[in-house]
Amino acid sequence: MKKNILITGSSGLIGTAILKYLVEEGYEVSLLKRSKVLGANEFFWDPSRGEIDEFALNGIDVVVHLAGEPIAQRWSSAAKNRIVNSRVNGTRLLAETLARSQTLPSLICASGTNYYGDQPEGVVDESSPSGLGFLAEVCRQWENAAYPAIEAGARVVFMRTGIVLSGHGGALAKMLPFFRAGLGGRIGDGQQLMSWISLTDLVKAYIFVLEDGAVSGALNAVAPDPVTNTSFTKILGNALGRPTIFPIPRILLKVLYGEMGKETALANLGVQPSRLEDLGFEWAQSDLRAALRAIL
Ligand SMILES: NC(=O)c1ccc[n+]([C@@H]2O[C@H](COP(=O)([O-])OP(=O)(O)OC[C@H]3O[C@@H](n4cnc5c(N)ncnc54)[C@H](OP(=O)(O)O)[C@@H]3O)[C@@H](O)[C@H]2O)c1
Repeated sequence: MKKNILITGSSGLIGTAILKYLVEEGYEVSLLKRSKVLGANEFFWDPSRGEIDEFALNGIDVVVHLAGEPIAQRWSSAAKNRIVNSRVNGTRLLAETLARSQTLPSLICASGTNYYGDQPEGVVDESSPSGLGFLAEVCRQWENAAYPAIEAGARVVFMRTGIVLSGHGGALAKMLPFFRAGLGGRIGDGQQLMSWISLTDLVKAYIFVLEDGAVSGALNAVAPDPVTNTSFTKILGNALGRPTIFPIPRILLKVLYGEMGKETALANLGVQPSRLEDLGFEWAQSDLRAALRAIL
């Protein structure tokens, strides 16, 4: 029998793709939404006020928790508070509600490869410690907020996700107009590693852990081979048939995007998906050239 799934953040880039897949495959899907206008199988929550309709968890096997304030914005102190609080309050509220529920569903919670922070020394995997910086701290607090569910004995998985590649949103969609106009170029010295995953493979990875009841803990949701920013830039330029001759200086990125640019586009985030590999997960798009060709 197909599982009953509850999704938060279903209107976002990843949520829309997971929801589409689950509905097409015949899963029973309910949504937890912040809007008071609700349709069938939709339930209200407001993580900022600690409000949740507890009926949302009735009969649910797995909760897929994606909700969180967008990271890609200038990090004013108000924005930073929203980024942390939306994740910590939402995850804690969900974990506490789940812990009180009769069926004790599994919780699959989004997290980020930024958990490891800027890693100038090379590539890390799930056995590596958390690093420095605002986003690393966000990821730690986000994952810790799920503790009530773990303490109650629920299966909890953290999807430490890399840069999700899709033509419909996220980082790639923001880069495309510049690259299409021939204005793409490496960022800084271009040596920083980027860990990426196609949206197709990320949906596949969520379904994989949703279906395998033995998987718990943190998993790096990335393709097997991180690439340098220079390689990424060249491969994207080639895929579009456009030159990539204008490097973006570090200083410009810092002026335009401040701390956010430093911790995302300029950070060395080389992350290996050791646990997904050990579990026998098969990527549909493990090669960046093929992934970009399919996406574009
Ligand atoms: N895309 C990536 O490259 C990437 C990489 C690593 C980690 N992640 C993480 O994966 C999760 C989903 O990513 P995504 O790209 O699908 O994000 P997204 O497109 O920004 O969508 C996130 C969803 O969260 C909800 N939301 C937005 N602001 C909120 C707030 N202040 N409080 C509570 N909920 C809020 C919204 O859904 P509703 O309106 O339906 O509530 C929104 O559609 C996020 O937590 C993100 O940080 C994404």
